[in-house]
Amino acid sequence: MANQDDFFKKVVAHAKEYGFIFPSSEIYDGLAAVYDYGQLGVELKNNIKQAWWKAMVQMHENIVGLDSAIFMHPRIWKASGHVDAFNDPLIDNKDSKKRYRADVLIEDHIAKIEEKVEKEVEKGRKRWGESFDEAQFRATNPRVLEHQKKIDEIHGRYADCMNRNDLEGLKQLILDLEIVCPISGTRNWTDVRQFNLMFATKMGSVIDDSDTLYLRPETAQGIFVNFLNVQKSGRMKIPFGIAQIGKAFRNEIVARQFIFRMREFEQMEMQFFVRPGTELEWFKRWKEERLQWHLGFGIPADCYRYHDHEKLAHYANAATDIEFRFPFGFKELEGIHSRTDFDLSRHSEFSGKKLQYFDPELNESYTPYVIETSIGVDRTVLAIFSHALKDETLEDGSVRTVLSLPAKLAPYKAAVLPLVKKDGLPEKAREVQHLLMPDMMVQYDEKDAIGRRYRRQDAIGTPFCITVDNDTLNDNAVTVRHRDTMQQERIAIDNLPAYLHERIKPIKNQ
Ligand code: GAP
Repeated sequence: MANQDDFFKKVVAHAKEYGFIFPSSEIYDGLAAVYDYGQLGVELKNNIKQAWWKAMVQMHENIVGLDSAIFMHPRIWKASGHVDAFNDPLIDNKDSKKRYRADVLIEDHIAKIEEKVEKEVEKGRKRWGESFDEAQFRATNPRVLEHQKKIDEIHGRYADCMNRNDLEGLKQLILDLEIVCPISGTRNWTDVRQFNLMFATKMGSVIDDSDTLYLRPETAQGIFVNFLNVQKSGRMKIPFGIAQIGKAFRNEIVARQFIFRMREFEQMEMQFFVRPGTELEWFKRWKEERLQWHLGFGIPADCYRYHDHEKLAHYANAATDIEFRFPFGFKELEGIHSRTDFDLSRHSEFSGKKLQYFDPELNESYTPYVIETSIGVDRTVLAIFSHALKDETLEDGSVRTVLSLPAKLAPYKAAVLPLVKKDGLPEKAREVQHLLMPDMMVQYDEKDAIGRRYRRQDAIGTPFCITVDNDTLNDNAVTVRHRDTMQQERIAIDNLPAYLHERIKPIKNQ
């Protein structure tokens, strides 16, 4: 692909063209940062959710599931800190009337300087060829050092303002960096102010402040407030976890990058309750286990990296992100946080109910500490989909677009294709389709030449194409074509279900 931008455009276009992801309310010109999953997207998404559920709930005897309501008592969000502190710093341009996140304007400015550094490095690489020593170049080249000094200065001021919640300082930094509005081109900025990201709505018929509800901005709080219900009814012994998959809502101001940052999205979260003092050991274990889960999809390890947080939220004593190399660079895919006893203590305080655990081994009660693993379903779809999408040049010079999804995640596992639409082949193909349907998602396709049908299945990630030809009527066997290698083998129809099952293997580590 020409470059990252073009490739990302191709990802978005391919997702739409083949029925994976559509802009929401498209016939009404769409709704910003909200997307619908089409007929294939919903399958991919469900398969990802199943893979996570299996790895977290089915494969751990001490983790159980939950499906808590989206609507919750408003005091929950006061206790969790979301009412007071779930904010983004916003700034408006008075000429264009456009609103921006002040932190993003500054980060984008830093990114532009980083691009300049990369250009210098590229120039150096071209100039010195094989003997180019990148580390030495970065450490000594005067232009790189000058840019780096600027980046460090901006970072320093920016981090200081964010830590001290210094909104005036943020505005001053934007002015000093001479950042202009991309629409109006002017520096006519308002003051920076905090904007809460929760969507509010009303419950019942009486409209007053007391019945303001929030659409949950994370699924985690539903787990904390059910801690005792699950622990007691399931007779759970610490350490144990509660896992949940569900929608979350955030009024994101900078909503871009397709399904990477959405206003309505889905999370897969697990809260693991442990004995105080053991949390850092569990944090380490979950950090490793979650990375292994990602690697199970077969995507190369260098597409993932940890980003350990230096600045921790006030309730956390360790935190890391698993970042993925998205088409627009490395960005957060999953967060793993050691949240101490903050959430349970706060809910105890705000609800007046003691959320503690009696530990029979220690013969004492305590508020458990919590390790959280929190991953976005949509970001996982984007990571896996974008990594799988490729244009491949074949031996004859033609190009095919192929979506090399792990077979377990592919929307359709197999397509059944009669070679021609006559001679009893469609009827035989229907038989094969019905043989497989109870076990897996199968598509039937008889339109167009076989080559075009193969390409269509390649483009939607179907790992196996099963062709029924004239010989099938005599030998009761079919040709199975493999998506990635395009190799074909003859398989007896009687053996076909077992043959496919063996190849649609569970994902490693999952
Ligand atoms: N309970 C912790 C929590 O919600 P977070 O880092 O704010 O932590 C966790 O979110 C994960 O949810 C992120 O790593 C990301 O995958 C996903 N996520 C967060 N905001 C999102 C958004 N606006 N659109 C899509 N996914 C999002």
